[in-house]
Amino acid sequence: MNTYHAERDAMTIELEDIGSNPAPRATISEIIEARFSRRGPLLGALAAGVAGTAGAQVPMQGGPSTLTFPELSHQLAQTDAVAEGHEKHVVIRWGDPVLPGAPEFDPRNVTAAAQAMQFGYNNDYIAVLPPERGGTIGARAILWANHEYTNTNLMFPGMGTGREARARVTAAQVEAELMAHGGSIVELERVDGRWKPAAAPRLNRRITGVTPMTVSGPAAGHPRMRTSEDASGARVLGMLNNCAGGTTPWGTILTCEENFNVYFGGELANSAQAESHRRYGIVASPGYGWHRHVARFDRSREPNEANRFGWVVEIDPYDPASTPIKRTALGRVKHEGATHAIAPDGRVVIYMGDDERFDYVYRFVTARPWDPQDLAVNRDLLDEGVLSVARFEADGTMRWLPLVHGQGPLTEANGFHSQADVLIETRRAADVLEATPMDRPEDVEANPVTGMVYVMLTNNASRTPERVDAANPRARNDHGHVVEIIPPGAEGRRDHAAESMRWSLFLRAGKPGLDAGAAYHRATSDQGWLSCPDNCAFDSKGRIWIATDGAPAAAGVADGIYAADTAGPGRALTRLFYQAPAGAEVCGPFILPDDSALFLAIQHPGEEPGSTFENPSTRWPDFAEGMPPRPAVVVITRAGGGAVGS
Ligand code: FEO
Ligand code: CA
Ligand code: CA
Ligand code: CA
Repeated sequence: MNTYHAERDAMTIELEDIGSNPAPRATISEIIEARFSRRGPLLGALAAGVAGTAGAQVPMQGGPSTLTFPELSHQLAQTDAVAEGHEKHVVIRWGDPVLPGAPEFDPRNVTAAAQAMQFGYNNDYIAVLPPERGGTIGARAILWANHEYTNTNLMFPGMGTGREARARVTAAQVEAELMAHGGSIVELERVDGRWKPAAAPRLNRRITGVTPMTVSGPAAGHPRMRTSEDASGARVLGMLNNCAGGTTPWGTILTCEENFNVYFGGELANSAQAESHRRYGIVASPGYGWHRHVARFDRSREPNEANRFGWVVEIDPYDPASTPIKRTALGRVKHEGATHAIAPDGRVVIYMGDDERFDYVYRFVTARPWDPQDLAVNRDLLDEGVLSVARFEADGTMRWLPLVHGQGPLTEANGFHSQADVLIETRRAADVLEATPMDRPEDVEANPVTGMVYVMLTNNASRTPERVDAANPRARNDHGHVVEIIPPGAEGRRDHAAESMRWSLFLRAGKPGLDAGAAYHRATSDQGWLSCPDNCAFDSKGRIWIATDGAPAAAGVADGIYAADTAGPGRALTRLFYQAPAGAEVCGPFILPDDSALFLAIQHPGEEPGSTFENPSTRWPDFAEGMPPRPAVVVITRAGGGAVGS
């Protein structure tokens, strides 16, 4: 979800990331003192900054970028656009059949029964996997898609705008919305160069807001995880607000619960949970009205149900009968994504962001190496290991602080009675460790070619001058920035499990010359600047593809995809490749290993002020009379074949 832009639907803004970390660590005076008390060249953000300008060549078509596609121009439009020389197709959209026997999509009759068999709403994270575990992608593949949230006003007729719709939502509509959440597994086939749902799928599956899931790891079974319906504390119905995600080396999906707080409401009966609820932004009257219809979302009845959301969920797409597992060892925050890298000794490292103003960047390192030969070894690898939170220093170094019960201040004295407490209240544990409050961490992802790790920081208009620090160098950061973490070791063999790393800034977003502090490669064009980086992907050459969420429509800029080199003379020279339809953000993105296709998830088309089912701001992608906008997965290929964007 987008957060701060005034032109967005007021209810959408209400649903999102209000800052709930009141005590950011460093003050401006501390930072200034730190910066000027050190010898040598300026370090940290202001200096480390935005490398790549030195040695840049004179701008040409694309300047020194290795990406040669003709750049799009910034514009707002009802439909989407891609750079010349490429083709785009809708792969699957909200309401399309997923399970055999699914009814044909009827926008005037969206029911729970139909949604349980159809592609869900607001696709966000997507992954395209080989058709068999450990195999390769040829003419077949498996698509995973998250379904993050629902736009009640665009899903059902007669609801009015966003705020009105959520106020008048009925119990039956809430049931349908629960079914439109979760995720989808869809087998794909490539016919005449075009990816589409396979004719005879064996693995297709819908995961919803009521799918039974198990809970594993240190918080499983803890009294704070128990409810009147689940005395075990280890069995939950559904996952909610799954935003971004990742994959594991053993072929499973990691899908991440983000703004779970918006589904819970009512007066809190159990005051022991009050501080925790406050820190996660759970309030009596949330944006959604689900708690009025579904007892378990009413805090006065089930004060612990919210503790069972906000986790990373592991799903095996190759076993349609498998039960999704909430892996509590990875912490409970508003998880954006969970992407993996491999340490030199074979341990698996998961990078994660907590998408809230002034919240943190996390990392989990498994206790044991993964085993490419033995699935059983990997099955519960994510239940044991060390979760850490990032602290960025002004001297260009950073450390990973372990969130381990009994270590440092994470003790009884501070209210942490066990590792379960540390995990259920991950944010408070990180506060106590004095992690660095960031400008809304979204995707955190390692470049598979260079091993550098990129942190998308989407924006933070609430950061005041007194609160800026080296890694978050701008007050009122409307446009966000990208931090680059450099693990020790040589390219291709960096130690992602190391306790200390270095960092710098890759870019500061916004329009150069207009937005204070905006900085990219100096050859970045008037079209190539971006706002609000959210998700990212890397192609086989290690180039970064950045998806945005929150572009300033008032400046005539839509959300889109921007590609850039991460090294060499074209470093940080972002170029506009794809532009989203009205009201939509771009999620995914996912690039096939041979660079032959870029899959995008186009989320919340038509989510604009005043937009309704009857009169939406766009009817993308169908543009048929009476058809509302439909979130959809799009695939982009190069006309005539070859690497996308080359
Ligand atoms: Fe759902 Fe952090 O974007
Ligand atoms: Ca976002
Ligand atoms: Ca988003
Ligand atoms: Ca996101």
